[in-house]
Amino acid sequence: MQKFIITGGSRLSGELTLQGSKNSALPIMAAAFLTGGVCTLDNCPRITDVYSASRILSGLGCKCTFSGGEFRVDASGAGGSEISAALMKEMRSSIMFMGAMIGRMGRCSVSVPGGCELGPRPIDMHLSALRKMGAVITDEGGRITCKAPGGKLTGAKINLPFPSVGATENIILSAATAEGETYINNAAREPEICDLCGFLRRCGADIRGDGESTVVIKGVKRLNGCDYTIMPDRIAGATYLSMTASAGGEMILKNACTEAMEPFLSVLEQTGCRIITGNDRIYLRCGARLKGIHDRIRTMPHPGFPTDAQAVLMAALVTAEGTSVFEENIFDCRYRHTDALRKMGADIEVLGKVAVVRGVKSLSGAVVTATDLRGGAAMAVAGLKAAGETVITDISHIDRGYENFEGAVECLGGKIKRV
Ligand code: EPZ
Repeated sequence: MQKFIITGGSRLSGELTLQGSKNSALPIMAAAFLTGGVCTLDNCPRITDVYSASRILSGLGCKCTFSGGEFRVDASGAGGSEISAALMKEMRSSIMFMGAMIGRMGRCSVSVPGGCELGPRPIDMHLSALRKMGAVITDEGGRITCKAPGGKLTGAKINLPFPSVGATENIILSAATAEGETYINNAAREPEICDLCGFLRRCGADIRGDGESTVVIKGVKRLNGCDYTIMPDRIAGATYLSMTASAGGEMILKNACTEAMEPFLSVLEQTGCRIITGNDRIYLRCGARLKGIHDRIRTMPHPGFPTDAQAVLMAALVTAEGTSVFEENIFDCRYRHTDALRKMGADIEVLGKVAVVRGVKSLSGAVVTATDLRGGAAMAVAGLKAAGETVITDISHIDRGYENFEGAVECLGGKIKRV
């Protein structure tokens, strides 16, 4: 298993072009199957979750090719409707293919998806919505089979108990070619949902209201393939900004989605960093020691503070002056990175969904194990601040969502090597 060796303690300085969004590319790749055409996705991140999704598409009969940052998928000859348990286990987004398969084939057979272990990650909202649209669903020993009577789902009014990102995306994918109109109330408003809908509209779908709490999808007879550019990855952006803020220094983040990153930036600037945004660039400079954030940092559905940025911001605040308090409201178990940060000298107390971070003057390098995608990145943020050497093992978690992570850190002047 590979690991990162990081030598911390130096200020960072550099420029970095932000990768394409993992959480946008994955549902859009599922949508490409739904279209049954040829789609070219530009700015598609070269990450292992995308390679997993590509294997799923190939298993469904698509022809997939990567050249540079462009992913091309020809779904015209594809006709599969089953995904193996092994492939489903590789990532959470495999569940997105349910909506795409039943939308195109009128049926699907999947298992419970994998993904970061952040606590129980049920799919009850996904299944309940599909049933409301007429799907007949059976679950035999973890193998879930869905069938649309007559091969077509029917539009329905769906009230989500929680603005689930995945459930919202699955419903949109299922409804795009269903009979009639589907209304999603309490829909998730994440920017990646708007990107998925932008792709689907380009393919001929009739969707409005994405980015708001009520989304209306009017089923169309058929979709066509298209060329599309994936939006930048706002969480990878938050990661690299947290890295530079923590170590001290300055950076320019290019090809950034400044508007989508606003919920994170508005919190980061409370640490005393200087942040200037313009079009698709973010300039950050951090001279002195960060200040602890006075107001509680509550993770919330967009446009609240993103749960995916909680770990990396926490890693930046462990050496801030003063105390910061986090409240994790999205997942039951998203503080798994705190043990590693404590091992490096952090003072963090976890009380249920609250984490109290008391700033310490310095950290020391240690050998730590990545627990999940964002938790692993948080360890790198802390390692670049810590005196001495930090070794992060099990970095396959980080490779799931960060394209050429060590290359990005090196662009910022960080000392890191993959061994
Ligand atoms: C997406 O996961 C993202 N993943 C996650 O990013 C992100 O943290 C999450 O949305 C929240 O923003 C992708 O887009 C691939 P949810 P998803 O459905 O869709 C509960 C990363 O680091 N829930 O909005 O799985 C669920 O357990 C990853 O890039 C149900 O109870 O998130 C959780 O507590 C991690 N039943 C909450 O809702 C359901 O049927 C939010 O989950 C569905 C969800």
